[in-house]
Amino acid sequence: MVGHSESGDLCFRMMQLEDIPAIAALERESFALPWTEEAFRNELLQNHFARYMVMECDGVIIGYGGMWTIVDEAHITNIAVRPAYRGRKLGERLLREMMKTAAFLGMRRMTLEVRVSNTIAQNLYAKLGFAPSGVRKRYYSDNNEDALIMWADLPGQKV
Ligand SMILES: CC(C)(COP(=O)(O)OP(=O)(O)OC[C@H]1O[C@@H](n2cnc3c(N)ncnc32)[C@H](O)[C@@H]1OP(=O)(O)O)[C@@H](O)C(=O)NCCC(=O)NCCS
Repeated sequence: MVGHSESGDLCFRMMQLEDIPAIAALERESFALPWTEEAFRNELLQNHFARYMVMECDGVIIGYGGMWTIVDEAHITNIAVRPAYRGRKLGERLLREMMKTAAFLGMRRMTLEVRVSNTIAQNLYAKLGFAPSGVRKRYYSDNNEDALIMWADLPGQKV
């Protein structure tokens, strides 16, 4: 399992229960429909498909991302970088780490939904090889916004 890898002063590791208050705070700063602490607790304790990673800088959580790994497809549930750290290629580093982890776990493709208005995230996904494949109408309940569905192929693992 890819539990811990470092590059520079950045560290990626799997999310622990103790991280949840900080993650939920980041979630509230990042999303119109933030997940609750309870939702994260359920993911970590009950959902065997769930893999959640945190990105730390000097021991401080500055981002996180989650995915469900099902058969050979990884479905990203959420990804966010703390507002003060955005625009420094850290979201890109985090997503690359998630893609690497998914490939390591045997996933061949990765998918996600993103608000049609969220061009920043869409640019990031397109940069890392995601392409649009469809729309889920009125997917977001706060404003009935549509979701764009995107998919990327993951590199095969050498044996
Ligand atoms: C989406 C998010 C994770 C990106 O993280 P980030 O660290 O700010 O992004 P990066 O600095 O790594 O940028 C990577 C790429 O994203 C795109 N991007 C980032 N900021 C952008 C901006 N202000 N305008 C347009 N594109 C932007 C670009 O393609 C960029 O690559 P480039 O710099 O070579 O052009 C971050 O903005 C975030 O947490 N947003 C709130 C939560 C969210 O919307 N999550 C996605 C839900 S589907």
